[in-house]
Amino acid sequence: MSAPNPTSPAPVRVAVIGAGLMGREVASAFGRWFALLDCPVRPELVAVCDVNAPALDWFRQVPTVRHLDPDRRALLARADVDVVYVAVPHHLHEEIYTDVLRAGKDLFAEKPFGIDLAAARRVRDLAARLGRFVRVSSEFPFLPGAQRAFRLASSGELGRLIEVRSGLLHSSDLDPAKPINWKRQNRTCGEAGVMNDLGLHVAHLPLRLGWKPARVHAHLQKIYRERPDGHGGSAPCDTWDNAVLHTTVELGGEPVPMTLEMKRMAPTETNTWLFEAIGTDRGVRYSTKEPKTLWTYRRDREQSWERTDLGFEMAFRSITGAIFEPGFPDILMQMWAAFLSERAGLLGGRFGCATPDEAVAQHEIWAAALASQRGQSVAPV
Ligand SMILES: NC(=O)c1ccc[n+]([C@@H]2O[C@H](COP(=O)([O-])OP(=O)(O)OC[C@H]3O[C@@H](n4cnc5c(N)ncnc54)[C@H](O)[C@@H]3O)[C@@H](O)[C@H]2O)c1
Repeated sequence: MSAPNPTSPAPVRVAVIGAGLMGREVASAFGRWFALLDCPVRPELVAVCDVNAPALDWFRQVPTVRHLDPDRRALLARADVDVVYVAVPHHLHEEIYTDVLRAGKDLFAEKPFGIDLAAARRVRDLAARLGRFVRVSSEFPFLPGAQRAFRLASSGELGRLIEVRSGLLHSSDLDPAKPINWKRQNRTCGEAGVMNDLGLHVAHLPLRLGWKPARVHAHLQKIYRERPDGHGGSAPCDTWDNAVLHTTVELGGEPVPMTLEMKRMAPTETNTWLFEAIGTDRGVRYSTKEPKTLWTYRRDREQSWERTDLGFEMAFRSITGAIFEPGFPDILMQMWAAFLSERAGLLGGRFGCATPDEAVAQHEIWAAALASQRGQSVAPV
């Protein structure tokens, strides 16, 4: 028998603002927290806020939820809330994140951490001034394959870095009948479009590895300009759909090409996250397209790619069998375990969530990409 989870006696009381797709995922992750064996902190979802009252109804079945607030001010005034997770459209990030910080709560923010670079800097600076603990949601690096790739890339074993590719690819927007939503309009998603939506997932590992581009040449595409509005008419779809950024990272005085790909229209891809780093001595390639498979390159007397089947090799141990396959709910739970442990000073050398500085750094890349697209030129970051 495994020992029960050595959780702290008092749970961290978490509230959610934005009871949509991501708000519900958090409730589900907390609901099976007992699956973790060595996470030193235990969360409890105590309060939920959404301006759309029917969205709150789903949370009535969550036994720990004691407050359902349509107004965030009521929720933020509650003394029995320690941490707030905010998952709302991008144009509301700055306003709601700063409200949370000023209410004296710690914040688990959603990407892209503000609608643009200026907003992200203001939120980061306010959090620093108020001394609040803030991290930003980006779960893919918690996949076993991503962790293995990160460890190899940071080990120095790659030799001289030759090239890097990081991407997140979707395909459902290829359906022209897919109705418009807030993620597909500049006013609510932000001028950076798909980069705001998918970009932190793509930039998180490179930035953590210290691979911040110095320059960028962007190829941004708007593919469908209109979509059904869901009421029998059509509405403008003015965001960038696909973004391919050819960037240059300066490493030890040498320029290294790094390609960042964020696409809503990549045929057949359903949330394919990929990361590839190739060096003179070793290399690594991982994609959720083949979720169990880690490819590593080695230059010996002969050169070869090795294929390794991965199991459930997670930073926070769990009851799940070592040979079983992890999925989205598992990495979301690992990300939350990292957030709560780091907040408690108990991360213990494990991989931490994206920081406000990393979120600002990704916006710096997207701002340069927009400048590159406008000028059809290479733009400095
Ligand atoms: N980490 C990830 O993998 C991931 C995946 C999807 C979305 N996201 C991010 O999560 C955030 C939310 O996206 P989503 O897909 O959950 O959106 P969603 O549209 O499914 O949900 C957003 C919710 O916010 C509510 N809302 C709007 N204004 C509000 C306000 N003023 N106060 C309270 N609630 C309000 C809406 O009613 C809705 O229920 C975005 O920042 C998005 O980029 C992250």
